[in-house]
Amino acid sequence: MNVLFIGGGNMGRALVGGLLAQGSARDGLVVVEPDAAARARLETDFGIRTVPAAAGDLVARADLILFAVKPQHLRLAACALAPHLAGQLVLSIAAGIRLADLSRWLGGHQRLVRAMPNTPALIRRGISGLFAHPSVDDAGRKSAEDILGAVGETMWCAREEQLDAITAMSGSGPAYVFYFLEAMIEAGQELGFSPAQARRLAYATAGGAAALAAQAAESPAVLRAQVTSKGGTTAAAIALLEERAVKAAFVAAIRAAAARAAQLGDELGKDG
Ligand SMILES: NC(=O)c1ccc[n+]([C@@H]2O[C@H](COP(=O)([O-])OP(=O)(O)OC[C@H]3O[C@@H](n4cnc5c(N)ncnc54)[C@H](OP(=O)(O)O)[C@@H]3O)[C@@H](O)[C@H]2O)c1
Repeated sequence: MNVLFIGGGNMGRALVGGLLAQGSARDGLVVVEPDAAARARLETDFGIRTVPAAAGDLVARADLILFAVKPQHLRLAACALAPHLAGQLVLSIAAGIRLADLSRWLGGHQRLVRAMPNTPALIRRGISGLFAHPSVDDAGRKSAEDILGAVGETMWCAREEQLDAITAMSGSGPAYVFYFLEAMIEAGQELGFSPAQARRLAYATAGGAAALAAQAAESPAVLRAQVTSKGGTTAAAIALLEERAVKAAFVAAIRAAAARAAQLGDELGKDG
């Protein structure tokens, strides 16, 4: 499959790296990237072809075109490509841009899939939500899934609005985890550990607990109860968290992120 990347920044690089690691052919990947330094890095690191601007013959040769530019650059990038599009599958990972807006910028093209990855994709531990235009067939969905699957897990959404919820959960989610890690590291240092020791304790605990929860048959609530004996140390910590309504605050925060994602979709989809 020939894939033409539009944008070779962080996410573009992560996807190129993931696809090559999975055995994709080097000469099947081309990246359009205006920044010369970024192009040189892509060529040195991955040995793939890069170009400063999308030429019509490259678009015509592509089976799949992947937009990995910032959302605010997508309209111009899409409009420039529109005259050269035929039946290619177009996959966009630009946060917030809805398929109806992308389709309009692409001159009515409908073979579209939208995806929302997250930053752990950079180490191939991401999870991406995907939504396909109803006109995309199973083969098209499989192609999109294979691309995002090269950098982590994938989850299809039945409705496009669910991508706002995906954005709030897994898109912004790494920041919630980093926030928790910051608190744990701060506490560790207050309790007398060096910064390196506190980081090690926090990362191993968060990673280990997440891995245990993912493997266990029990829910996180049951796993938590199992380490919380009455009158013990964990009970003292959880009582304080409950008293300060920390869980409720997290739930409200994720709701706020989803509402903001929907708002951003309205703003980013404008033509002006
Ligand atoms: N990073 C994440 O965790 C994450 C998660 C989910 C979704 N996303 C989405 O992924 C997309 C890419 O994010 P990123 O972090 O990879 O951004 P990035 O590092 O800024 O990469 C975007 C690249 O596209 C280039 N570009 C701009 N206009 C272009 C055009 N017309 N044609 C070709 N290339 C062009 C930019 O070059 P210049 O720098 O010269 O402008 C830049 O190198 C964004 O839409 C973002 O919403 C990212």
